[in-house]
Amino acid sequence: MEQTSQKVDMDHVRLSEDGRYVVILDQSKLPNLAEYLTLETAEDIYEAIFHLRVRGAPAIGICAGYGMYCLAQTIDTDSFDAFYQKLREYGEYLNSSRPTAVNLSWAINRMEQTAYKHKKLPVKEIVKLLGEECRKIHQEDIAMCKKISQYGLSLIKDGDGILTHCNAGPLATSRYGTALGPLILGKEQGMNFHVFADETRPLLQGARLTSYELDKAGIDVTLICDNMASMVMKNGWVQACFVGCDRVAANGDTANKIGTSGVAILAKYYNIPFYVLGPTSTIDMNCPTGEQIKIEERNPDEIKKMFYKQPMAPESVKCFNPAFDVTDHTLIAGIVTEKGICRAPYEESLAALFGEEKED
Ligand code: MRU
Repeated sequence: MEQTSQKVDMDHVRLSEDGRYVVILDQSKLPNLAEYLTLETAEDIYEAIFHLRVRGAPAIGICAGYGMYCLAQTIDTDSFDAFYQKLREYGEYLNSSRPTAVNLSWAINRMEQTAYKHKKLPVKEIVKLLGEECRKIHQEDIAMCKKISQYGLSLIKDGDGILTHCNAGPLATSRYGTALGPLILGKEQGMNFHVFADETRPLLQGARLTSYELDKAGIDVTLICDNMASMVMKNGWVQACFVGCDRVAANGDTANKIGTSGVAILAKYYNIPFYVLGPTSTIDMNCPTGEQIKIEERNPDEIKKMFYKQPMAPESVKCFNPAFDVTDHTLIAGIVTEKGICRAPYEESLAALFGEEKED
C-alpha cells in the first residue's frame, strides 16, 4: 500500500491514473493529515474498508466497485468460468470487511452481475465493461447526492438549526453527501443554517469529518458531545435532525451509526422532525425489518483507548462496541432519496420507489 500526502480533493475515492489500482484519501487520519493511499491488492482494499480509511455506506460501495475492477484485471485466464469464480471469491472476501452497510454488497453484486450478463464475450472485453460499470456507480452516486440534497433542502428554511450525527457528507459519498448535502447546497444558494454536529463516539466521525467538511463549506457548525443533543434540542436550537443511513429495511427501520436511534428518540420527545437521507442503493427491500440487519461489532479498544493508543479505561474492563444501531421507523418523519421523499407507511412508499420489484 503506497502513501502520499496531498491536499483533499473532490474525488477522494478513485482509480489510479493507469486504472490498475484504487486510490483513497485515508479518512482515519483526517483532519490532521490528508494522506492518499494506493490500494494494490485485495488485502489492501479489505484493510482500508475494515479500518474505516474509506467509510460511509456509498463511499464503501464506490471503493468496492473500483476494487472489483482492479482485481478483475489481475485474473489471468481466458476462461469465463475460471474468471467468474475468482471474481466471486474476491467479492465474497471484500464483502466480509463490513457487514452493515448494504452498499458494499450492492456494488459487488452489481459488478458480478455485469460480468455474468456478458459471459459470452472474451474475458478482456468483460474486464473493460467492468471498468465502465464501476465508473458508472461513482457517477450515479454524484447525481443521487445532488437530487437528495435538493429534496432535503425543501424540508428546511433559512436560519434553521439542524442536528446531525456521524458523517454523511462528501467524504462518505461523493460531492454533496446525503445528510449534509441540503446544507451545502443551501449555502451555495445563499442560505444559512446553524448545524450541531454530534462528535460521534467512539471514532469521532462527527468531530473529525463533519465539522471539518461544514467548516470548509463556510457553514456555521457547532461541535457537541453526543450526550449534549438533548440540551440543544430542549433549548429550541434544533428545527430538524438530518442523518444518513447504512441500510434501510423494507418497513423503514434504519441502521446508521451507533447513537442515531438515541437522537431519534430525543427528537420525538422534543417534537422535532427526524429525517433519514440516503440513496436507493441503501434501501434493502430483501430485509423486511430492522430485526434482520446484522450489526457490526468492533474492537473494544476503540472505546478503551484513544485511537488505539492512549488508555482511557482499565485494561481489563469489558466493553460492548456495536458500530450501528437501528432507528425504529415510527420515529422517522421522512426518508429522503434521489427519487423523492418517502413518508409512512414506509412499506408502501419504499416499495413504490422500486415498482415493488424484489431481487430473487
Ligand atoms: O462507520 P462509518 O463511519 O462507516 O459509519 C457511517 C455512517 O453511519 C453514515 O451515517 C452512513 O454510512 C451514511 S453515509 C452517507
